[in-house]
Amino acid sequence: MSKKIAIIGGGNLGASMAEGLISSGFVLPADLTVTRRNIAALKSLAEKGANITDNNIEAVKTAGWIVLDVKPFQIKVVLSLIQQHLDAKKHVLISVVTGVWVKDIQEVVGDQFAIFRAMPNTAIAIAQSMTCIYAHQANDAQIKFVASLFDQLGKSVVIEEKLMDAATVLGACGTAYAMRYIRANIQGGIEIGFSAATASLIAAQTVKGAAELLLQRNTHPEQEIDKVTTPKGCTIAGLNEMEHQGFSSSLIKGIVTSYKKIVNDM
Ligand SMILES: NC(=O)c1ccc[n+]([C@@H]2O[C@H](COP(=O)([O-])OP(=O)(O)OC[C@H]3O[C@@H](n4cnc5c(N)ncnc54)[C@H](OP(=O)(O)O)[C@@H]3O)[C@@H](O)[C@H]2O)c1
Repeated sequence: MSKKIAIIGGGNLGASMAEGLISSGFVLPADLTVTRRNIAALKSLAEKGANITDNNIEAVKTAGWIVLDVKPFQIKVVLSLIQQHLDAKKHVLISVVTGVWVKDIQEVVGDQFAIFRAMPNTAIAIAQSMTCIYAHQANDAQIKFVASLFDQLGKSVVIEEKLMDAATVLGACGTAYAMRYIRANIQGGIEIGFSAATASLIAAQTVKGAAELLLQRNTHPEQEIDKVTTPKGCTIAGLNEMEHQGFSSSLIKGIVTSYKKIVNDM
């Protein structure tokens, strides 16, 4: 199958994906086409050698992998436009559009296509996304290709479609939860004596290092916590006070509230 990729909707996410795929060497710029209506906004991708156009049909004709990167309310219009030019033997669809299910895509293009859904997060802009992927009617080679595409842009995991809403909460909303945690650290850091700039650096790098410990060692958080807590020490005193104030409970309640909102309202 062709390695040529078309990204339909080169906005925040689409352009970040294009940048990351080019800079990682995953795709040759000449094999990548990015579309949007305001193509002037894609100038920097054109300068890197990618094909840019406002013609979705031409983009689809040149590529095998069609990444749908438009807003949820725009996807049906885009799919209806390109539908006649899609061929299940040639094209695989990859949708990153939040809340759009495989059945919604099939309603427009039919049920013969390999279709992927992907839920990245905003760290895709620096190739540090966590991306959850669902594969529908895809063969092993296609799954490998899509997983390795998102692995260029961070890490990926293949999940069931019924977990896509949960993936949105934990993986995408999760960036906001982490930011709040870091912000609270900065506020505490200032109160105990640091300037805002120094507190920001310490808080962000400490959280990054903590996450890397888990990712690189594959350990449980409590194993790493045990290494920091000494009997009668300051770490356990602070941690226990946070728990008395409902730290873990409030995070879990927040995650479940986001999940209920996405399932019931969206
Ligand atoms: N941002 C994230 O981190 C994130 C994470 C997970 C999922 N998502 C999903 O990713 C999708 C894109 O999000 P975003 O933040 O990148 O939105 P965005 O910046 O608004 O990008 C959407 C792009 O689609 C283009 N577009 C609209 N209609 C088009 C058409 N008919 N043909 C070609 N291009 C068209 C728009 O450009 P023109 O107006 O110039 O055409 C716009 O640049 C959304 O569905 C969102 O739910 C985003």
